Amino acid sequence: MKQKKTKQENWTTQFGVIMAVAGSAIGLGNFLRFPGQAALYGGGAFMIPYFIAFFLIGLPIVWAEWMLGRYAGIRGYHSAPGIFRSVTGKRNMAYAGSFCVTLTTIITSFYIFIEGWCLVYALRYLFGWMELGTSTDFNKLFIETVGLKANGALFQYGLLNFNLLCMVFCLLLNYFLIYRGIVKGIEWFCSWALPALLVCSLIIMIRVLTLGNPTGIEGQSIIDGLGFVWNPSQPNKTLWESLSNPETWLAGAGQVFFSLSLGFGVICTYASYTRRNDDIVLSSLTAVAGNGFCEAVIAAMMIVPAAYIFLGPAFLTPENLNSSFTIGFQVLPEVFHQMPMGRMFGFLFFFLLFLAAVTSSISTLQPAITLLEEGLQIGRKSSLTIAGVITAFGAFFTAYFTKNLTALDTMDFWVCNVLIFIMAEVQIIIFSWTWNIDASLAELQRGTQIRIPYFFRFVMKYVSPLYLLFVFITWFYLKFPEQLNKISHNTVAQLSLGFIAFVTIFNLFITSQALARWEKQEHLNSNTVDGEI
Ligand code: ALA
Repeated sequence: MKQKKTKQENWTTQFGVIMAVAGSAIGLGNFLRFPGQAALYGGGAFMIPYFIAFFLIGLPIVWAEWMLGRYAGIRGYHSAPGIFRSVTGKRNMAYAGSFCVTLTTIITSFYIFIEGWCLVYALRYLFGWMELGTSTDFNKLFIETVGLKANGALFQYGLLNFNLLCMVFCLLLNYFLIYRGIVKGIEWFCSWALPALLVCSLIIMIRVLTLGNPTGIEGQSIIDGLGFVWNPSQPNKTLWESLSNPETWLAGAGQVFFSLSLGFGVICTYASYTRRNDDIVLSSLTAVAGNGFCEAVIAAMMIVPAAYIFLGPAFLTPENLNSSFTIGFQVLPEVFHQMPMGRMFGFLFFFLLFLAAVTSSISTLQPAITLLEEGLQIGRKSSLTIAGVITAFGAFFTAYFTKNLTALDTMDFWVCNVLIFIMAEVQIIIFSWTWNIDASLAELQRGTQIRIPYFFRFVMKYVSPLYLLFVFITWFYLKFPEQLNKISHNTVAQLSLGFIAFVTIFNLFITSQALARWEKQEHLNSNTVDGEI
């Protein structure tokens, strides 16, 4: 299935595409979600399901996405619907692909709200507005920043709220970068933002690792803090206790998914801008390694140990770490408060979170732009206007319905837990079953010197799809009743589902427009070829 040639944008360098893909992966998931999950699920014990999920589903699906994206990209398709249809040759697969665009649009909507919090905190540290004293003050600040107490809390004075203004700035920054395009926007931004955030995180990590035992309390030295992260067995929880809890396995797999942006359709959209013989195995491995390094090495060695040495192991309990945001927005400010030069380190930390968030949110905004361009054959300005209105609506919706973060949690649940798993399953099945696995691996390895071990043939064909199914079913069984209950009783949860339904229907409609256009074009092309014969 070949589209008529139009002017095609490609990444300018391999470094650029690696930075863009790594930028998509490295985000709040690495620096906020991972430390919270590791602390919650047994420290070192959590690393076991995490690494198993990484090798058995993470890496295989990353490769599947890269292969699908490049294959379709050189045929002129860049949106997930176009890619799915081009690779399988089946019309209905375009509709399946539209769900990837739905999930990225929803993620962008709430992700930009959180990106705004990172900017709020970074600016507060920069201007010295974080001289708070006790943990109660830090809790209060978080509640105010997020508007946790009541719906509409941030809108008391209309838009004249520092936190809302930061969110609006984030929206505009994302639109600006996307407007500049793949090369001048995404590639340019990621090529300097990613090294910059790496420098910030290394500075903080070195600071934490050289803290020794600042409180002088026995058992709270940096070595004890590192032990908490890496020892599979904890004083209050054995390895077996951690691993026999199915939630530890779900959390490990969920973390790999969110962190690598798996199943989002972002990697395949980015990969569709590579060239025919680009070494995508090397690019994917480098991006994945960069993501893993930022997560399992840097974030693991700086955030949890810092909290451990200043606040003690008794603080790192499920009650205190009840959400992914607690460790970053409530625990760490307290740590920076006690740390020498805490203001500077606080600024560096939230600035790096902000950069990491932007490199991820531009990647989740791009798929909607690509689909609109392909579906309606409109330019970047028009597609950005349409996608901009939808994501701005989603961001304001999340920022309005902030009581207990119900809107954010509902969207996160249905999109980041349900849809991501389904779309990842679809992608691995296309790679391993719709296509012949050997043909897929050959296509993936075109242009590379690296040989993917033969063992992955078996993993990608059998283990990854089954592992995914198993994780999904277990998780559904454990979590679905609670969500169902929430939806039947909570109006905000219902409205959030309504927003997801609207975005789904909209993307299905745009996909139908794209299909009509592609089919017309293909018909014309085949008539031209017949005429020439
Ligand atoms: N992969 C992105 C993150 O980790 C979405 O935040």
